[in-house]
Amino acid sequence: MAYNLLKGKKGIIFGALNDNSIAWKVAERVVEEGAEIVLTNTPVSIRLGTINTLAEQCNSIVIPADATNVEELENLVDKALEHFGGKFDFVLHSVGMSPNVRKGRAYTDLDYSFMDKTLDISAVSFHKLLQTLYKRDALNEWGSVVALSYIAAERAFAGYSDMADAKAMLQSIARNFGVIYGAERKVRINTVSQSPTPTTAGQGISGMQMMFDFADHMSPLGNASASECADYIVTLFSDFTRKVTMQNLYHDGGYSSAGLTERLITDYIAPKE
Ligand SMILES: NC(=O)c1ccc[n+]([C@@H]2O[C@H](COP(=O)([O-])OP(=O)(O)OC[C@H]3O[C@@H](n4cnc5c(N)ncnc54)[C@H](O)[C@@H]3O)[C@@H](O)[C@H]2O)c1
Repeated sequence: MAYNLLKGKKGIIFGALNDNSIAWKVAERVVEEGAEIVLTNTPVSIRLGTINTLAEQCNSIVIPADATNVEELENLVDKALEHFGGKFDFVLHSVGMSPNVRKGRAYTDLDYSFMDKTLDISAVSFHKLLQTLYKRDALNEWGSVVALSYIAAERAFAGYSDMADAKAMLQSIARNFGVIYGAERKVRINTVSQSPTPTTAGQGISGMQMMFDFADHMSPLGNASASECADYIVTLFSDFTRKVTMQNLYHDGGYSSAGLTERLITDYIAPKE
């Protein structure tokens, strides 16, 4: 059901690779709520994925940009300003990748040039994006920027490797840019810490199916799906959350506050006793 929560709002969505992507669901949902969007991804992801189908569906244009490349971000923001005929209201950063994870490198045997890439793509790109938006004064007052995080930023999760370090940095950037952008231009910046979700990036993590199942058992409400994440992000782009900023917001069915659940005991612990 649509509520017109984003009527008249405009924004950029990073990271829709295919219809499993969290960004894909966000794009569909924000358009349903009345927003106008520009989609972006790297040229290779545009070629290998199906973003053009989403663009048709959302009546959107696609502007290629590698989020680690400042010139490409500047071009994206300039073109979006031109396309929208002025400033816009929201941006979703749904970008992440670790070559160490992809190549199965253990955390005790990281390749440091890979780690530089992990941090650049999954965290520093968020700073590059925010700095570009800020310098170009591209966002309206009460604008909202959201990036996707994961609880491995705060706790150790086997297999998440250097993505955990990247997510910790991502959340720190949200706070440190948020304090300035909020005070000077009333723009809010938050991260959403999402449940494990079966997407291309998610499936790159070793033992993902087990992580997904365990998290589901540990979450009183069950894992949050990509579509549910999109619903939550709509509220963060809407005018109903104007005073929420510099937060890492858990969207995980209660996982982050649970210690031990009945369902975990019944399905995992009891059968072994
Ligand atoms: N899937 C999960 O379990 C999960 C859980 C919590 C948080 N997240 C986070 O959600 C975000 C979206 O991931 P997803 O799960 O939808 O997977 P996904 O693979 O569909 O999306 C990741 C996107 O990042 C893009 N990307 C990679 N390098 C880029 C670059 N240099 N410039 C621009 N874009 C680039 C990819 O093209 C892709 O579209 C990521 O930040 C991820 O870490 C995912």
